[in-house]
Amino acid sequence: MAQSKQKTDREMLLDALQSTKKTSAEDLLFNYKGILYPSTICSKEMFGALETFEARDDDLLIVTYPKCGTNWAVQILHEVVSVIKNQEVVLDQPMIEFGNPQTIEILMIIRNPKDTAISFFNFYKSMPVLPTYESWNLFFKDFIHGNVCFGSYFDYIVEWNKHVDDKKVMAVTFEDMKIDFPTQLKKISEFFELPLTEEQICTVQSRTSFKSMKEKSEDTHGKLGDAFFRKGQIGDWKNLFTEEQSKEVDTKFQQYLAGTKLGELLNYAKYCKM
Ligand code: A3P
Repeated sequence: MAQSKQKTDREMLLDALQSTKKTSAEDLLFNYKGILYPSTICSKEMFGALETFEARDDDLLIVTYPKCGTNWAVQILHEVVSVIKNQEVVLDQPMIEFGNPQTIEILMIIRNPKDTAISFFNFYKSMPVLPTYESWNLFFKDFIHGNVCFGSYFDYIVEWNKHVDDKKVMAVTFEDMKIDFPTQLKKISEFFELPLTEEQICTVQSRTSFKSMKEKSEDTHGKLGDAFFRKGQIGDWKNLFTEEQSKEVDTKFQQYLAGTKLGELLNYAKYCKM
């Protein structure tokens, strides 16, 4: 008799992503405590349960704003654990919304706001669980005011900046990972007390390169996999931002993040100037 295999959280998430029909914002999104979420993959009940969520000692926690390299970081941790155990490991990977840092190590990946906005706009276009924007200009208005799924980029960074000095929290930028991956990987692996040899660093680097992840995207992320690995570049924002939009983000950055530790880490002058 054929046995039906129980689906993992991740498989259920991928099923939901693929089977949803793109409809109106009213049908696809819901508001929880002032922030929009996709109703196909999030629920008020889940957020309620998270109020009492407790991490286990061996949990590895990644926090990111959407489109800042979540899937990349997940794959990196997966490969780090695999090379250290010298076997392919299957990590449970529930996607959760998380309030306060607790007692376990938390890896935070941040990315410059302009590339994040462009990546998010393209993701909205390709994901059936998210409503369609008729133009980049309309999306930009909602992004800058925080009226997009998972809330405001700027509020998010401001909030996590409060925890940046916590020894249990380490922030790494998407840009630094692109520019000097081995150094960032070494930092990440040591932070989680899973130090890697030079050889292991090379192995993880090749398994988590953009090309390798894109090629495997259908296996790892299903039919929509390609959309999770679009370009993986720094500076794509220059192809779509108007000068006025660029200045608007500059002003917002100045108001919210100038002089903060995470603001400094983002190296805004290098990555966000025309
Ligand atoms: P782009 O849309 O700019 O290409 P998230 O996983 O948080 O949704 O982030 C998605 C962004 O990370 C996408 O950016 C994607 O291409 C990029 N990305 C994913 N894996 C990557 C990798 N291995 N190297 C570089 N960028 C990667």
